[in-house]
Amino acid sequence: MTETDQALHAATAQIKAVRSDKSLRPTIAGFFDEATNTVTYVVHDAASREAAIIDSVLDYDAASGRTGHASADRIVEYVGDSALSVKWIIETHAHADHLSAAPYLQERLGGKLGIGREITRVQDEFGKVFNAGTDFQRDGSQFDRLFDDGDTLELGAIRGTVLHVPGHTPADMAFVFGDASFVGDTIFMPDYGTARADFPGGDAAQLFRSIRRLLSLPGDTRVFLCHDYKAPGRDEFAWETTVELQRTGNVHVRDGVTEEEFVAMRTDRDSKLGMPKLILPSIQVNIRGGHLPEPEGNGVSYIKIPVNAL
Ligand SMILES: [Fe+2]
Repeated sequence: MTETDQALHAATAQIKAVRSDKSLRPTIAGFFDEATNTVTYVVHDAASREAAIIDSVLDYDAASGRTGHASADRIVEYVGDSALSVKWIIETHAHADHLSAAPYLQERLGGKLGIGREITRVQDEFGKVFNAGTDFQRDGSQFDRLFDDGDTLELGAIRGTVLHVPGHTPADMAFVFGDASFVGDTIFMPDYGTARADFPGGDAAQLFRSIRRLLSLPGDTRVFLCHDYKAPGRDEFAWETTVELQRTGNVHVRDGVTEEEFVAMRTDRDSKLGMPKLILPSIQVNIRGGHLPEPEGNGVSYIKIPVNAL
């Protein structure tokens, strides 16, 4: 941690405060979507009932082009049953493996939709890939709030700090509420490793630095992952770990692994990965804040497939 890393200092102070005041420890529910291996989190402050929803999933059947709300309705039900008041609907980044249910959830539960400011770079990049018309704004205006590194959020008395953690995409942000970090697509479970860094705007060296920054939080920081794929030899899905366990055991970035070693490993591994099944529909919808592209004259929205372009 450098002396000038104000955001990291703020997050660290929160985590230390939780050790002596348990009321600052957020309550967290994780909802795993097996179709996309994604975990949606509802984080809340028990006293005020204020909540944030992180990385929601809109069901999508690629063969039929049909969307569904079973995953999102689990969140709506949980929020209702727990009598929560949703302040924030957060995307850690523009996902390439599932569509966001943010607009559906916002309509039912309220809250402000937020994503990292660098989403404009992702919009610009993929606006070109999909040859989107001038009606597609590349200024992030589809979101209510564009987060910068060091921004803070409040859920009642619980403070949240935003950390910019680029590498998987330029816009990735991590969110630390109390003693719980939501790290998006940076690290996965220690036995599985790290996120890929080969999407447009991705950068393995940057990902390594972002991860090392996250791992300089205190060892007892709870770490909640965006995805799990079960590592070889593990039968259960898992999505919660700690900074300590990542530092001692992450197969890609445990302590002692150098940036050069990581970049070589990540680059080699990424060169062998296929594109995620839902990347084309996901990106088109997620860069629009989870909205489908504008319907055409017949009232139907269409998802484009750029041929030989990606
Ligand atoms: Fe991702």
